[in-house]
Amino acid sequence: MTQRRTMTRSEDETRALARAFAAELRRGDVVALSGELGAGKTHFVKGMCEAFGVHEPVTSPTFVILNRYGGKDSTGNELLLYHLDLYRVKSLEEIYDIGYEEIFYSNGIAFVEWAEFLGELLPPRRYDVRLSFGEQEHERTIEIHSVEDKRDDASSVSRRKARA
Ligand SMILES: Nc1ncnc2c1ncn2[C@@H]1O[C@H](COP(=O)(O)OP(=O)(O)O)[C@@H](O)[C@H]1O
Ligand SMILES: [Mg+2]
Repeated sequence: MTQRRTMTRSEDETRALARAFAAELRRGDVVALSGELGAGKTHFVKGMCEAFGVHEPVTSPTFVILNRYGGKDSTGNELLLYHLDLYRVKSLEEIYDIGYEEIFYSNGIAFVEWAEFLGELLPPRRYDVRLSFGEQEHERTIEIHSVEDKRDDASSVSRRKARA
């Protein structure tokens, strides 16, 4: 597991950090974002989407739970980006209903705000991005962990297939 911790001082810096981080992302990856309301999760997602050339507006899909954006990977092929916001989700049923398995074990890349609501459904292999408020108004601390799946279970096997 690797861990990085960065302080940003504006929403532009947060977006720039997210753009640079996105260079590591590959098809099938899941980025689980956590942090209080206003911590900057959506701005981090905007930055990642910019890195994949998304031109549509990126907004928190609070009322619809899921947004999809069309991006491009580093070789110019089309890449689907999934943006979930689980803030208003009341039960795991709703997450089953949007077809979370297709999203997390897909050929695209998924960004999940309020990922902690996933509990057991949180994919074991993922990036965790935790944002928190700093002392100054525009300061945010952003921690990025790469969480590797050590178990050799069925989901990791299907995930490897999805990534192949
Ligand atoms: N360093 C920073 N990084 C990101 N957002 C910041 C920063 N400083 C101030 N902000 C402001 O904080 C808010 C973050 O909003 P948003 O990204 O929607 O948060 P969340 O999705 O976590 O609720 C925005 O109003 C943004 O302008
Ligand atoms: Mg948000």
